[in-house]
Amino acid sequence: MNPHPQIAVVTGASSGIGAATARRLAATGLRVILVARRVERLLKLQAEIESAGGSAEVLAADLSSEEDRLRVFEQVHAADVLVNNAGFGWYGYFAKMPWEIAREMLRVNLEATTHLTWLFLPGMLARKHGHIVNVGSVAGSIPSQGIAVYAATKAFEDAFTTALHRETRGTGVHVSMVRAGPVRTEFCESAVGRENGGHVPTERIGVSAEYVARRIERLIQHPRRVIYVPWWLRVTPWIELSFGWLEDRLGPLLLRRNEKST
Ligand SMILES: NC(=O)c1ccc[n+]([C@@H]2O[C@H](COP(=O)([O-])OP(=O)(O)OC[C@H]3O[C@@H](n4cnc5c(N)ncnc54)[C@H](OP(=O)(O)O)[C@@H]3O)[C@@H](O)[C@H]2O)c1
Repeated sequence: MNPHPQIAVVTGASSGIGAATARRLAATGLRVILVARRVERLLKLQAEIESAGGSAEVLAADLSSEEDRLRVFEQVHAADVLVNNAGFGWYGYFAKMPWEIAREMLRVNLEATTHLTWLFLPGMLARKHGHIVNVGSVAGSIPSQGIAVYAATKAFEDAFTTALHRETRGTGVHVSMVRAGPVRTEFCESAVGRENGGHVPTERIGVSAEYVARRIERLIQHPRRVIYVPWWLRVTPWIELSFGWLEDRLGPLLLRRNEKST
């Protein structure tokens, strides 16, 4: 088994957690494949990585499209690390969510993660080496009002990753989950910028994308099933189990108040 992966595919590398993770992984000597739609941003990041002595390649792709995902796989083929990070959110009542946004969210947050994993995993298993890191959210364990589809996509990622972690145990391939709390990126800006999108309540708080990237780097060095970022958010499944009844009562009031102030 090769203990030092050479190629890391990072989706959603044009901003936030993905860009910070790509920088970090490139600094550790991996050749990073930068995947997202905004190609100018990817080229800028590639130049930055290369001027710091790292190695990067740009692959413009819309991950809501199956053809684009296949193209990513065909161009890379053998990846040592796959970071399924691309994703976006939307805040408000599900009944007011445009179907086009819900469908795109299912395609990017859920289908792209599943499809890219399906494409890259067999090669990793054959080589008995590789690591798939899925960037999820604590929203997967606390399905809050206002983020119904988003939370469901992250709950899917949780279940999918946990099951695969168990399937691949002992194969030399690792599948891990990052359950992040609020992170200061363009995530909230992108959510409110979409049709009918409200302000995500956590938009002013959170850790930095660089902090999450450092945790991902460490996760790749020391593989585990799941990490919480920050670590103390490991209480979230317990909060839902113990205080879900309270959120049933207070959550709707919060959403109504946020809806009025938007
Ligand atoms: N920020 C938070 O509070 C937070 C908390 C928990 C989990 N997360 C998760 O962390 C991940 C990264 O989010 P972030 O906070 O870094 O947000 P961000 O700064 O908005 O970055 C999102 C990334 O996803 C890419 N993306 C979106 N739609 C895409 C598509 N159709 N095809 C290809 N790429 C696409 C974007 O690239 P292009 O627009 O250039 O395509 C961008 O690079 C997401 O999965 C999110 O759910 C975020």
